[in-house]
Amino acid sequence: MSAPRQLFVTTALPYANGTFHIGHIMEYIQADIWVRYQRMQGHAVNFVGADDAHGAPIMIAAEKAGKTPEQFVADIAAGRKQYLDGFLISFDNWHSTHSPENTAISQAIYKDLKTNGLIETRTIEQFFDPEKGMFLPDRFIKGECPNCHAKDQYGDNCEVCGAVYAPTELIEPYSALSGARPELKTSEHFFFKLSDARCIEFLREWTTSGAVQPEVLNKITEWIAPGEDGKPKMGDWDISRDAPYFGIEIPDAPGKYFYVWLDAPIGYLASLKNLFDKGAGKTASGQPQSYEQFVADPATEQYHFIGKDIITFHTLFWPAMLKFSGRKVPDKVFVHGFLTVNNGEKMSKSRGTGLDPLKYLSLKMNPEWLRYYLAAKLSGRNEDIDFNADDFMARINADLIGKYVNIASRAAGFISKKFGGRLGAISPDGDQLLTHLRDALPQITELYAERETGKVVREVMALCDRVNGYVDANKPWELAKKEGMEGRLHDVCSTCIEAFRILTIYLKPILPKLAADVAFFLMVPPESFDDVKTPLGEGAQIGEYQHLMQRVDVKQLDALFEPPAPAPQALAAMKTEAPSTTPAPGGEPLAPTITIDDFVKIDLRIAKIVNCEPVEGSTKLLRLTLDVGETSDDGQPKLRNVFSGIASAYKPDDLKGKLTVVVANLAPRKMKFGISEGMVLAASHGDEKAHPGIYVLEPTAGAQPGMRVR
Ligand code: 2FM
Ligand code: ZN
Repeated sequence: MSAPRQLFVTTALPYANGTFHIGHIMEYIQADIWVRYQRMQGHAVNFVGADDAHGAPIMIAAEKAGKTPEQFVADIAAGRKQYLDGFLISFDNWHSTHSPENTAISQAIYKDLKTNGLIETRTIEQFFDPEKGMFLPDRFIKGECPNCHAKDQYGDNCEVCGAVYAPTELIEPYSALSGARPELKTSEHFFFKLSDARCIEFLREWTTSGAVQPEVLNKITEWIAPGEDGKPKMGDWDISRDAPYFGIEIPDAPGKYFYVWLDAPIGYLASLKNLFDKGAGKTASGQPQSYEQFVADPATEQYHFIGKDIITFHTLFWPAMLKFSGRKVPDKVFVHGFLTVNNGEKMSKSRGTGLDPLKYLSLKMNPEWLRYYLAAKLSGRNEDIDFNADDFMARINADLIGKYVNIASRAAGFISKKFGGRLGAISPDGDQLLTHLRDALPQITELYAERETGKVVREVMALCDRVNGYVDANKPWELAKKEGMEGRLHDVCSTCIEAFRILTIYLKPILPKLAADVAFFLMVPPESFDDVKTPLGEGAQIGEYQHLMQRVDVKQLDALFEPPAPAPQALAAMKTEAPSTTPAPGGEPLAPTITIDDFVKIDLRIAKIVNCEPVEGSTKLLRLTLDVGETSDDGQPKLRNVFSGIASAYKPDDLKGKLTVVVANLAPRKMKFGISEGMVLAASHGDEKAHPGIYVLEPTAGAQPGMRVR
């Protein structure tokens, strides 16, 4: 084991305007595995997160919810713990960018940058929504990316190519609030002069120092490498926004606030400070340090886990902010790819769909199944990975339980029943097997260090295969029946238990709860990687074997991916809050008012239900084949496949041949059973339990498939 190091580790701060989706959980699990590995190596780790609380979108969302922004973000923060505890994420601290620490550090960093001559003000033209009568925040202006020409990109950065730009650079901009074409108005803004030669020189050096993965370097080089005219593409960065804004005030600039992306990464430091101020910071020496001492200590190492959509902020802007405010720069930024679910939509940002983490937990699915599965898929590169339900079940049931957990169950019973729970001597063949297992230690720790958890899992499963081969060759269940073979039985089962102990240490960063249960069963204290080398030994007493892990049941996966019932859950939740004096129509209050422009975006069409059948594996869904009046290129009628959660109310024959109304321009949705190409309209009461019943809409006679409903 090397001398203890002191680490500061973060994951990207989630916007405080929604609950966690599976993309967040994947990032936290990846970082948590790495952090637990570092702790097992004896290092002092400060693993922190926080809510990213500021910005116009949160301000607008709070207003819509009828709350102050402070109350709104506090309510979101209150919901975080159930996810973090549920998936065994071991943050040392969770804080908020809306905090005194973040205000103080952001203002200090800004002043230092200003002293360094890297802040300047300019009068700029900014988009103004003439219909709404307000300056438009970046996230509420959409248009074509000026870099890669992807359509419908936000005004601050492109989710497709990662380019960061001013909203005025968007091609064909429109207001996401009203759809109107925005007008330009002038305003004074503050800029961080990233195009300054000092910044470019530093960034060229830092990005090539090994701080980022090669594929990340390839992506960001375009901003700092000399272009055809000899100049880099990197422009100055607009870091101010005008009031009204939910953010941190810029010192000596009334009515001006820091743009949310300026104070967001500073939130990493704010959470670290909050941890140290509570006296809970960890140092390599074990001696207490103040936050100021810790961040100034050259021994402190700083690591950020992020997704590939926010590379530019973390590998260009953030290091430059730290460097030119006289602070320590990150040692490494670890970028991961996106997670897709069942080959479906990408799980980025606020668009998480498919696998709801809270539903996963509420179905009593084991969090360590997900940790193991994601670990098996993740690597040190930023490639996308897919959660596939069948693959998930196979890896948990066949590999994790079939190959690893079963080693303990195959041996432990004999040890307790026949040998009073005491281990015996191990003969040379068992020792050879255990040596092989121990020899894997340097390779496994190296793979963890590089975040190659997929390779760790493969390596450990290969070791499990060896152990199972040894069990199959020695057949303890036969030894147990043979006269005079007690000694060999004791030897073989003791070898298996020791092998299981070693394998458990190897998997401990991924399966911390299981490892704790195994430590209890083997009656050993919490272990570090080096404990692999110290066998339990002859005569060691172990506990009674308790079942360690259930298999995944296909019903759990079916339930996990079962779409919600037609009544939107959000409205169902609102209905219970409706004041009793004014009963809500149909059991739920009316949704907020929309304009006719909002309505025409929904293309409703008459559809004929040409076929309807049950969906195998689902009690809620029916599969409808719809004629919406479309024809394919060869002139044949083109039919649509739509899944609808109406099986409780209709038998397939009730609907065949009927007309109905379908949302025809809804984005196709990949579901477990296939792609759904639209949504059939049906009515139901807000309180489904008290007023059960689902009623599919049917037009009066004369309507034809394809007619628009307006
Ligand atoms: O992209 C996001 O979800 C941002 N809230 C991430 C911020 S990371 C850090 F800078 F705070
Ligand atoms: Zn782009």
